[in-house]
Order: sequence, then structure tokens, then C-alpha cells
Amino acid sequence: MRDAQLSDDLLIWYDRHARVMPWRVGPMERAEGIRPDPYRVWLSEVMLQQTTVAAVRDYFRRFVALWPDVGALAAAEDAQVMGEWAGLGYYARARNLLACARVVVSENGGQFPDTRDALLRLPGIGPYTAAAIAAIAFDRSETVVDGNVERVMARLHAVEAPLPGSKRQLGALAAALTPERRPGDYAQAVMDLGATICTPRNPACGICPWRDPCQARAEGIVASLPRKSPK
Ligand code: ADE
Repeated sequence: MRDAQLSDDLLIWYDRHARVMPWRVGPMERAEGIRPDPYRVWLSEVMLQQTTVAAVRDYFRRFVALWPDVGALAAAEDAQVMGEWAGLGYYARARNLLACARVVVSENGGQFPDTRDALLRLPGIGPYTAAAIAAIAFDRSETVVDGNVERVMARLHAVEAPLPGSKRQLGALAAALTPERRPGDYAQAVMDLGATICTPRNPACGICPWRDPCQARAEGIVASLPRKSPK
């Protein structure tokens, strides 16, 4: 199957089944030309580093209620931000969050940079987060690779080499599939597919939009992928 057909099929699935999240723009809003707010995308992606979607939701809502834009957050008291972060863990993330907000305000007029490379220079933004913000907020065709995406790629292409050694190969496979059109929705679609259908255990292959092209399914090895090197 052509790669473009694969990403198109996944986007059609995403338009019907995307998980609703407070930082996302739904299909109706998108039809009206509404774009994701870079501040909200950044805040959500930093919170989602090492933390589940379920745990992040309420924190995200409280943060944007208290600090609706990056200028408000940059002007906040450190202690209040740290207090609101309490419970999310990994407190270096909260310190970097404030440092990043202040750099964006003082050095960039309150605008987030719109490329992966420029985003990478900001505090607390690593390769995963830079790619996610560039794709979701700025429509850049960047590839976002997390554990979900690695699992989906390992199965779709029946990659039997174990993680973590196969990371580079899985990243390259993910990059080859990333479309020019709607890359942010595509990135979130692969993550949602991994979280809801192509799950580590008991994947719901019968309702997967990629069931026909899935090589692991054809070979009957879905449950054993991705393989992991013994520690
Ligand atoms: N995990 C991290 N970022 C995500 C996003 N934008 N959508 C779904 N899961 C995610």
C-alpha cells in the first residue's frame, strides 16, 4: 500500500475516533479554520512527558484557567506554579516550564518559535516535544515518536529486532509515513491508535484502520511485538 494511502486512512479514522482532550481542536473547529493554540500545545506536551493523559487533564484545565497565555504564566510567582504542579511529579519540568515561558516572552515577544530546531533551544523542550509542538501547533511535517508510535510501527512493519536497539529503525519507519498534510493530526492519530487499539496487550485488531496493511497481523505475531532486549 502507498504510504499516502496509509496516512489518509488513519486520518479518516482519527476524524471519527480522536480522543477528546482539552488542548485539542476538534473536527468541527478545524472546519471553521481554528488552529491549535501553541501555548496550550506546549503546556500539554510538557505535562504529558512521563505522565498519562488521564492524570494531565485536570492539571491542564487549572493551569489555563489561572494562566490563559504565556505572558500570564511568565509573570506568575514561582511558588504558585510549583504549588499547582504538585502531584504531577518530575518537578524539573515545572521549573523549565517557567523558564521557557519567560524566555518566550523576553526574547520572542510572547510568540513560540514555529520550527523544531528553534523549539529545541528552549528550556525543557527535547526532541519529542519539539517535534510534537512543530507538528501540532505549526503544521510542520515532523515525526513524533513515543512508545505508542514505536509499538504501532513495530507491528505494522513486523519489526522483530528488539527495543531499544530498534529505535532508530522504528523512527525511520515512522518518518517515512509522516504526511505533508495535517502532520499534527497524523501524529496524534498514531498516538491515539497506540493508546486505544494497538495496545500492548489485547490489541483490537478487528477494528483497526490499519488491519489490512499490518504485517504483524498477517504473520500472526502482533502480541509478541515489539520485542524487548532482556535487561
Ligand atoms: N501523548 C503525548 N502527547 C499526546 C497527544 N497530543 N495526544 C495523545 N497522546 C499524547
